[in-house]
Amino acid sequence: MKIEVLTLFPEMFEPLNVGILGKARQNGLFELNLTNIRDYSLDKHKKVDDTPFGGGAGMVMTPQPLHDAINGVDKDHKCYRIYLSPKGETLSQRLVKELATKENIMFVCGNYEGIDQRIIDLDIDKELSIGDYVLTGGEMAAMVTINAVARYIDGVLGNSESTNEESFSDGLLEYPQYTHPQVFEGLEVPEVLLSGNHQNIAKWRKEKQLEITKERRPDLLK
Ligand code: ADE
Repeated sequence: MKIEVLTLFPEMFEPLNVGILGKARQNGLFELNLTNIRDYSLDKHKKVDDTPFGGGAGMVMTPQPLHDAINGVDKDHKCYRIYLSPKGETLSQRLVKELATKENIMFVCGNYEGIDQRIIDLDIDKELSIGDYVLTGGEMAAMVTINAVARYIDGVLGNSESTNEESFSDGLLEYPQYTHPQVFEGLEVPEVLLSGNHQNIAKWRKEKQLEITKERRPDLLK
């Protein structure tokens, strides 16, 4: 998979060089290219924003640098082009899996009060939100999405961290996990987990999944 990111702040993407994703990139399991939108500005001062028509607070990112950056990086429109915005479809595990099937994805990050609507109309395939709250820009949202999608790329997760048994993998929240020691601060590990009876353990885990999901996210059971 090849991921293109267009942003005014490429340095914000440093966290993707660390940990599981950093290793996956080093091993060539996916490619990540960062492009600074400002480099495409034709303005003599490299300006990328202006005041909104109709008035109102803040600044809006102008169309020229964005249009040229998007179509310069992705000339033949091979990328599935995503604009991060609170107005977009909310990210879900289902959508993460769908995005993981794409060969080329582009994330366009807006800042300030957003980008000129004509860029969304002309150049963007999908608007994506990571939740009902507002961030200062799309960068964090792009990183969240890249992290969640990269976990589905073959080889990124070891067997021990597979996507098979985790929250949402079967539409339910995950069962609680315990490790050594057997007693910690007076709290004991549930006895069934020490029994070695795999059928009973599986049954207990499924019951816990249903219990936790019913209590915390009853909407998932529908
Ligand atoms: N940009 C600002 N807030 C956002 C959000 N919640 N999701 C995606 N992009 C955003």
